[in-house]
Amino acid sequence: MKDLFEKIYKDKGPLGKWAEQAEGYFVFPKLEGVISNRMKFQGKEVVTWSINDYLGLANNPEVRKVDAQAAADYGSAYPMGARMMSGHTDLHEQLQNELAAFVNKEAAYLLNFGYQGMVSTIDALVAKDDIIVYDVDAHACIIDGVRLHMGKRFTYKHNNIESLEKNLERATKMAEQTGGGILVISEGVFGMRGEQGRLKEIVALKKKFNFRLFVDDAHGFGTLGKTGAGTGEEQGVQDDIDVYFATFAKSMASTGAFIAADQEIIDYLKYNLRSQMFAKSLQMQLVVGALKRLDMLRTMPELKQNLWKIVNALQSGLKERGFDIGTTQSCVTPVYLNGSIPEAMALVKDLRENYGIFCSIVVYPVIPKGLILLRMIPTATHTLEDVTETLDAFDAIRERLTNGTYKRMSAALMKAMGE
Ligand SMILES: Cc1ncc(COP(=O)(O)O)c(C=O)c1O
Repeated sequence: MKDLFEKIYKDKGPLGKWAEQAEGYFVFPKLEGVISNRMKFQGKEVVTWSINDYLGLANNPEVRKVDAQAAADYGSAYPMGARMMSGHTDLHEQLQNELAAFVNKEAAYLLNFGYQGMVSTIDALVAKDDIIVYDVDAHACIIDGVRLHMGKRFTYKHNNIESLEKNLERATKMAEQTGGGILVISEGVFGMRGEQGRLKEIVALKKKFNFRLFVDDAHGFGTLGKTGAGTGEEQGVQDDIDVYFATFAKSMASTGAFIAADQEIIDYLKYNLRSQMFAKSLQMQLVVGALKRLDMLRTMPELKQNLWKIVNALQSGLKERGFDIGTTQSCVTPVYLNGSIPEAMALVKDLRENYGIFCSIVVYPVIPKGLILLRMIPTATHTLEDVTETLDAFDAIRERLTNGTYKRMSAALMKAMGE
């Protein structure tokens, strides 16, 4: 018999195997200083395009003040225990009511973390005879939620309505046999490529098929829609989303999350959501902080306007200079370049060291081999100067990528990696 750890000693996993080359720089980098458009990386100032602080609330002085006061008033323990047992308060309820009103749903329920809240909500919504149909490019929290499901599941091709329809036909046949129902899951905005889920077309399929729709709107909440209520509002289909999810980890610049739906559904989830029933309540600092942030989302439309000013300048600037930004329909701004992983590493190093631009890099297996994806998240704290500086830097690195500079620079690394 093998020692359980044997496989760990041999194989660190698909990402872990790069640790030696990547850790501290490409992965687990340490960004220092207050969260803003410019922070420090390894002692040097960089323009940061990798932080999901869309509305610039992370370091807003009013927000910081409320957070600090809440910490002084409540400490980080209060309330103790799960909501059901001893961790329930008026302010938790108030925040839920305000969130529900903001996203135009009857009721809402707080989650301690978006990731585990999504997993748990999927788990609570389906029984063994139900069928899940979900987008193949779904976020890990959706995939892991589906993994808990004891019944059948189908994936449809990314944002492909024809494929969804085909899978709904299969799911319907199956559900007729099992006696269960169908749950369709999509993201509001797909966080890597920035495309919006085709919610309007998904919802239109409700005329033909009997299913309920669950939308993870982590990147849409606060950034899309007239009032910032998200992708459902943007596409005019908020009412047809049966269960709506958003995290506080992006536009709200905090920790925590919520789901919103009809009262009866939330009442059910309240008593069946294992991630909340068996975990300590969201601490008060975060609740008070979220109330403040939500108030700012409601009353300060200029935050979203500032964000979009930067998004538009960045995306149109990239397009004008001939960069491929794919099919984004949101603030998420991908730039696709051709190159190997070692070239991507040399390029990102150059971008950070010599041009002071910090963005995330995504390579195979997340995207096809031979492609490099530089992913940028514009925020309301960025300036037009940041954008120009970044566009100029991108021109320079593209030139060096095409003239083979990075290939030469990364030759040793490529050899080591057998490329
Ligand atoms: C689409 C999506 N869903 C869920 C989550 C998880 O949210 P949290 O960070 O609150 O756990 C994220 C990342 O934050 C996300 O991008």
